Amino acid sequence: MNDKRLRHLLGIEELDRDTAERILELAGTFHEVVRRPVRKVPTLRGKTIINLFFEASTRTRSSFELAGKRLSADVMNVGGSSSSTSKGETLRDTIRTLDAMHADVVVIRHSVSGAPHYISSRTRASIINAGDGMHEHPTQALLDAFTMLRHKRRIEGLTVAICGDIAHSRVARSNALLLGMLGAHVRLAGPRTLLPHRADAWGADVFDRLEPALADADVVMMLRIQQERLGACLLPSLREYSQQFGLNKRRLALARSDALVMHPGPLNRGVEIAEDVADGEQSVILEQVESGVAVRMAVLYLCANEPERPIEG
Ligand code: NCD
Repeated sequence: MNDKRLRHLLGIEELDRDTAERILELAGTFHEVVRRPVRKVPTLRGKTIINLFFEASTRTRSSFELAGKRLSADVMNVGGSSSSTSKGETLRDTIRTLDAMHADVVVIRHSVSGAPHYISSRTRASIINAGDGMHEHPTQALLDAFTMLRHKRRIEGLTVAICGDIAHSRVARSNALLLGMLGAHVRLAGPRTLLPHRADAWGADVFDRLEPALADADVVMMLRIQQERLGACLLPSLREYSQQFGLNKRRLALARSDALVMHPGPLNRGVEIAEDVADGEQSVILEQVESGVAVRMAVLYLCANEPERPIEG
């Protein structure tokens, strides 16, 4: 397989449609690999991947770690509070240090929007954005699209309602950009204080009530309120929020009967999503986690692989 290397994955904004489709296609191959009895290929043997996470993460970090290991790379985790930034080192010096260790790929999560872009011009390694502040989370959007494709066989023409705290969500932005690029109709729904000022610029329809956004939707994606990014109090109370914007069975019935229920996690059960909906028949929340490993294998493969090395090795 002769793939062009992907220099960095900073955001969906920088990604073209061909590359996005290639990642999704490759993820299909890796999805098969992770379902085999021996879930490992030698493709990235001898390559070094460093996970540099300055913000909390369960799924994304373990998913990148597992993806790197499934490809036989050496994977190292560097955490925020255990790294030298807590001793006053700048991000630039941290990245120069990792560069001196000949990292091939650095996966970074940071609370500052644009942090991955900043380091990408200061390192030899490929940079993958695993979430930067309120900006982008490109691999989450790719794994969401992959999950939709597995169920619906297409993205073109799907109606996807993304609901909740849109303004502070990097998942919402990356999904709106990617799904829009792939031809879906994207709806964004949330209380006015949690909608971005220029949401229409994301190419989506915007709703300040949940019900009209859910009508006949093929996919309903619920988002957590980003308490850590709210700053001022933008919500009267969580109880009121949940009453008006929580996804329960009655509201889900407004969407198509075969609509998928998605959530990037972590879930706040009883707030944005009712217990029985999160665990219900239409929920593909755990499949999203499974897709994450395959999609991240595809992204790591395109960032770290020598073009002539095939997947089977
Ligand atoms: C998301 C994130 O960190 O942006 N989680 C994730 O990566 N699975 C969403 C969130 O934290 O709400």
